[in-house]
Amino acid sequence: MRALVFHGPWKMAVEERPEPAPGADDALLEIIATGICGSDLHGYTGETGRRHPGQVMGHETVGRVLEDRTGTHRTGSVVTVNPVLGCGGCPACTVGMPQRCPDRRVIGVQPDLSAAFAERMVAPARNVVPLPAGTPTDIGSLIEPLAVGYHAVLRGQLTDDDLIYIIGGGPIGQAAAIAARRIGNTTIVVAELDLARRRLLTRLGFTAVDPMNLTADDISAALGGRPTLVVDAVGDSATLQVALDFSAPAARVVLVGMGAPRVAVGAYALSTGERSILGSFSYDEAAFRDTAQWAGDHAAELEPMIEARIGLGEAPDAFRALAEGRLAASKVLVYPSLERTSR
Ligand SMILES: NC(=O)c1ccc[n+]([C@@H]2O[C@H](COP(=O)([O-])OP(=O)(O)OC[C@H]3O[C@@H](n4cnc5c(N)ncnc54)[C@H](O)[C@@H]3O)[C@@H](O)[C@H]2O)c1
Ligand SMILES: [Zn+2]
Ligand SMILES: [Zn+2]
Repeated sequence: MRALVFHGPWKMAVEERPEPAPGADDALLEIIATGICGSDLHGYTGETGRRHPGQVMGHETVGRVLEDRTGTHRTGSVVTVNPVLGCGGCPACTVGMPQRCPDRRVIGVQPDLSAAFAERMVAPARNVVPLPAGTPTDIGSLIEPLAVGYHAVLRGQLTDDDLIYIIGGGPIGQAAAIAARRIGNTTIVVAELDLARRRLLTRLGFTAVDPMNLTADDISAALGGRPTLVVDAVGDSATLQVALDFSAPAARVVLVGMGAPRVAVGAYALSTGERSILGSFSYDEAAFRDTAQWAGDHAAELEPMIEARIGLGEAPDAFRALAEGRLAASKVLVYPSLERTSR
């Protein structure tokens, strides 16, 4: 089969790879579409070292079941995949929170796992999540990033009364805003540097502001008070400091952005303001499944998140363009079969 293979910083090629072979607990999927994630791009440029030469990436995917060795999923059904694989036996895994498993592995990150920038992949059947009947298939590739945003606002214990400030309007900031609205709170302002992304946020129905020269008073005026919940979807010292400085006393600040491996912030904004910083990583099993269910009924609302659809052969150039900062407003989806029909 054909797959997109990472060969070290800035090197990517479409190549023949052996067919993935499902084990006794696995399903074999034909990939319909896979989204390019910011973390794939950082791996591609070598910044994070979280991708390995010779590996296939891809963890935001939708596909069709070709075979399920466990008999759980019907052949032909359209599914997405929760890419977070826990050990299955630790306290975190036992309660459906494999994102906290000390031995967790992630499809598209660990090089020895079959992943989704390919014509076919295998995944444990328990990580395969069916889309509700009638869901437009493309939407399946958005479930993963949408679940990241959903988990982030749940970590922040979002309530109806919260005044929400989201820093960073990339796919994860967009997903957090969509999740807050999904839970029923629409008092949201998103700060985003890029104009095209602010326009997209507006199309998605959110108030988007330019963070340059923005003051705490500007945000308070827009929200009707100081933010009580901040989602930092950038994640460096500067944005985390803004989150603390702009927010109300006792605010919760969710750190989901991973823009820097270390951050330094003023301690007194935390202590004297009694604010909390809550880490958020991926999602638990329930948040992923609930998001797949929810998205099925909200496809029209989500469609603007899909920026472009490309074939596998166009993917190496797309990775380069995206990594060079020719930013897409949201998701670029890679279709292995689009390539086959267009040649
Ligand atoms: N914790 C998790 O589970 C998890 C999962 C996925 C992604 N992430 C991380 O979340 C972050 C966001 O992901 P993404 O895919 O949206 O990335 P992205 O790079 O596409 O988006 C980040 C956005 O933030 C904007 N930005 C940068 N600095 C800003 C500032 N000071 N104020 C306002 N906006 C600013 C950029 O213009 C960009 O649009 C990344 O660091 C990513 O690694 C974390
Ligand atoms: Zn991702
Ligand atoms: Zn575990």
